[in-house]
Amino acid sequence: MKEFLSSLKARNLLTVVSDKVSPDFQISTVLTKFQEHAFLFENVSGFSFGVAGNLLATRENVELGLGIEKGTLLESLEAALKHPIPKGHVANFRHSDWAFSGEPDLSKLPVLKHFDNEAGRYLTAGIVAAKFPGTNSENLSFHRMLVLSKNKVTARIVPRHLNQIAKETGGKVPLSLIIGPPPQVFVAASLQLQYGLSEYDIANSLSGGKLELVSSELTGISVPVDSEIVLEGFIDFHDLTDEGPFVDLTGTYDDVRKQPIITFERMHYSSDAVYQAVVASTREHSMFMGLPQELKIRDVLSKAIPKIRGINLTPAGSGYFHCVVSIDKLSDGDGKTAIVNCFAASHPLKLVIAVDSDIDPFDLTAVEWALSTRFQSATGLLQINGARGSSLDPSSAKSGVTSKIGLDATLPVNQDRKKFERAKITETPEEQAVLDSIQRALYSTGMK
Ligand SMILES: Cc1cc2nc3c(=O)[nH]c(=O)nc-3n(C[C@H](O)[C@H](O)[C@H](O)COP(=O)(O)O)c2cc1C
Repeated sequence: MKEFLSSLKARNLLTVVSDKVSPDFQISTVLTKFQEHAFLFENVSGFSFGVAGNLLATRENVELGLGIEKGTLLESLEAALKHPIPKGHVANFRHSDWAFSGEPDLSKLPVLKHFDNEAGRYLTAGIVAAKFPGTNSENLSFHRMLVLSKNKVTARIVPRHLNQIAKETGGKVPLSLIIGPPPQVFVAASLQLQYGLSEYDIANSLSGGKLELVSSELTGISVPVDSEIVLEGFIDFHDLTDEGPFVDLTGTYDDVRKQPIITFERMHYSSDAVYQAVVASTREHSMFMGLPQELKIRDVLSKAIPKIRGINLTPAGSGYFHCVVSIDKLSDGDGKTAIVNCFAASHPLKLVIAVDSDIDPFDLTAVEWALSTRFQSATGLLQINGARGSSLDPSSAKSGVTSKIGLDATLPVNQDRKKFERAKITETPEEQAVLDSIQRALYSTGMK
């Protein structure tokens, strides 16, 4: 992560805070207030580690981290998914890579307290690397972890690949936990691949085949050389304890559940190591929860709809539940076809709004305007009851079953559009000059 921190700093995209701050609620307050600003807190009271947060909270920062052109994130991810590059040579464990290698002690790390009423200190940006059974290839996934003691945590494990690995191996799985990896690994770990395909292959493809990995000392699991902190140990799915309360994606408290305990047996950190946090329900969290859904929606929708202007998983919908899709309609069913395909592609979605391509899906005022002037519930409303939703939605049933609505605000293909288009004032150079001078006058009086 060091290289990424340097490039953010070089571009003035990192706010470095040198005043003393507490890891108890102070850092999370700043990160939730200024969600699109990357921060490095250098002076954390009681700790020698710095704390970094909101590093990848904007697409601009993610694109910088991946070393790709602005506006090409989704295309770059699609290319990496199409052309994964298996991890190359993995160096043997080297003490020289770490400033410290030894007994795990989580009390040395500035693990944050984030919100009132949470159960305790939570690791929030840790990536679990675990081997697919009988292979030398690793699955990567994020899991929040409640600190229980110097070497134990309990982790929230939604039944996906780590769970499957445990099922196939009798419930006790060796793992390495990575905190503060290079951005390619962070991004790849958030993706939902088919079982057996390693997120490292995607990270390596995003790195142009240059991802540097090294073996963990005890588990032999590959971890990025450029990691801030690595912990090694095992998760035991037979050893459960209460996990939560914890604030999740929606900004509400998730249920308390019995979840497996992880025991760490080794800890490593680099010199001047920085602890990375992702505060739940911030832009950074919703972006990385939304990205895999957006990729799935793009894939399915592009096969059903000839021309898509854009897809917006809206921030207030946690980047996860609400979607606006702007399309060029060729036939009258396209609005509803788009809605149904979005629901089919991404099970957490609860609301899909389809608009014509003259509406920018990222301009939510324009989207609401389209609803108010083009939508009729008698013909444009679609309701689905009893469908699969997400356990993250507090209003869904315990089983995760939910209701969904689609709002088709697209106009019929042969509709005379004049009545529905927003009136314009064509700006002549003279009008532009008047506008410019008024704008200057407003700025000079402090009004914008
Ligand atoms: C910041 C962040 C936190 C997450 N926290 C959890 C978590 O606590 N538990 C969980 O099961 N998934 C969590 N996820 C989702 C998984 O990491 C994600 O779905 C991942 O792709 C699953 O990997 P898999 O497909 O290899 O199973 C989180 C994702 C992000 C981006």
